[in-house]
Amino acid sequence: MARVTLRDVTLAYDDEGTGVPMLLIHGFPLGRWIWDDTRTSLSKRFRVITPDLRGHGDSEVTPGPYTMDLLAEDMARLLDALRIDRAVVGGLSMGGYVTFAFWRKFRDRVLGLILCDTRAAADGPGEKVVRQSTAQTALERGTGAVVDGMLPKLLAPRTLEDRKELVARIRERLVRTDPKAVAGALLGMKDRPDSTPTLATIDVPTLIVVGADDQLTPPTLARDMQSRIKGAVLEVVENAGHLPPVEQPEATSRMLGAFLEKLDCS
Ligand code: MLT
Repeated sequence: MARVTLRDVTLAYDDEGTGVPMLLIHGFPLGRWIWDDTRTSLSKRFRVITPDLRGHGDSEVTPGPYTMDLLAEDMARLLDALRIDRAVVGGLSMGGYVTFAFWRKFRDRVLGLILCDTRAAADGPGEKVVRQSTAQTALERGTGAVVDGMLPKLLAPRTLEDRKELVARIRERLVRTDPKAVAGALLGMKDRPDSTPTLATIDVPTLIVVGADDQLTPPTLARDMQSRIKGAVLEVVENAGHLPPVEQPEATSRMLGAFLEKLDCS
């Protein structure tokens, strides 16, 4: 693990391998650990950078809200610090929201996009109310109170049933996230813009990945995104819920690797 101090925050990240750079952004309230298998596998052929977003993992906790624009700016500054002009940028769920913001702000720096278990739409009024009250719950009762409601929706039924050890490991990672960061990310997601109009502006190679059993961002949403992004490729990961890189790491790495191999980065 390495650390870098950007304008107002110190971020932790891993940077492994050489070749086409790929920045992979985790979701909420996760950390760069969700990409550990992907990084180990793909860094044999590519340069894989996996940061902890501010407040998450080993990165510094700063006051919220963590808007998607702020998180995207952190990612651009990280690439600056690593002297990377252009990269494939990908994100899972909240990481996908950050990827959309990155595309809007820094599209000249994007070689290709990977949208993993994410959605383009903004929160509706009811979802905003839930985000606000969940942020309050995190601050008053701690991250555990938020995570316990989330876990059954994060994973495929088969993962929950057959892989109790993995489920316990994931829970243990989630509850480590600082309640202030949980609230900061929730409030940032609450006010994120609708990225649906952004989809038609995407003119770089795009891979969409979704777990077949994803309850939070189901395959129907992924298919809808695919229909709105010119030339986008969709891969469905069997026996995975919202976290394919953790639930089915080999299949996920194979899909990302095949996408990167085909990119023309000349
Ligand atoms: C995530 O996995 O990042 C979250 O499910 C995103 C969200 O709550 O919208």
